[in-house]
Amino acid sequence: MNTNRTFTMLKPDSIEQGNMLPILNMIEAAGFKIIALKYKRMTRDEAEKFYSIHSDKPFFNDLVTFMTRGPIVAAALEKDNAVDAFRTLIGSTDPNEAEEGTIRKKYAKSKGENAVHGSDSDENAEIEISFHFDNEEIFS
Ligand code: RTP
Ligand code: MG
Repeated sequence: MNTNRTFTMLKPDSIEQGNMLPILNMIEAAGFKIIALKYKRMTRDEAEKFYSIHSDKPFFNDLVTFMTRGPIVAAALEKDNAVDAFRTLIGSTDPNEAEEGTIRKKYAKSKGENAVHGSDSDENAEIEISFHFDNEEIFS
């Protein structure tokens, strides 16, 4: 299992508020190499599939509506221990609980609209990278 890769999305709230480049800057400044990058709007089908693990949750419909209301930036990232290092950089799901200096503390407005996604395991990182990128779109 590759422990050097993770997957992120800058969610629609980040793009709407003009935070695309500041967040990408924070990611690079923290030592992540961007090995794949895409600016796109997800279809409802894609968002439902991407977040299918949450399909039973009460917030699922709101999450899919939010994630499809505008474009996202999808990126594959490389760094030692990438999954854990990136979860540390983004902070807790709820920005009110996120640590100082984290992306969500700085840019997220609520638990639902929380600026960025980060993979939660090496296995899911691989699945999520493959969901958004073909091999020839990854520059490792
Ligand atoms: P993500 O998957 O997007 O990186 O976020 P996460 O691991 O920190 O949180 P997770 O539990 O996987 O939830 C996925 C996303 O669903 C939305 N959510 N809303 N209103 C709510 O109570 C609630 N809980 C979760 C958030 O957008 C969260 O990031
Ligand atoms: Mg998650």
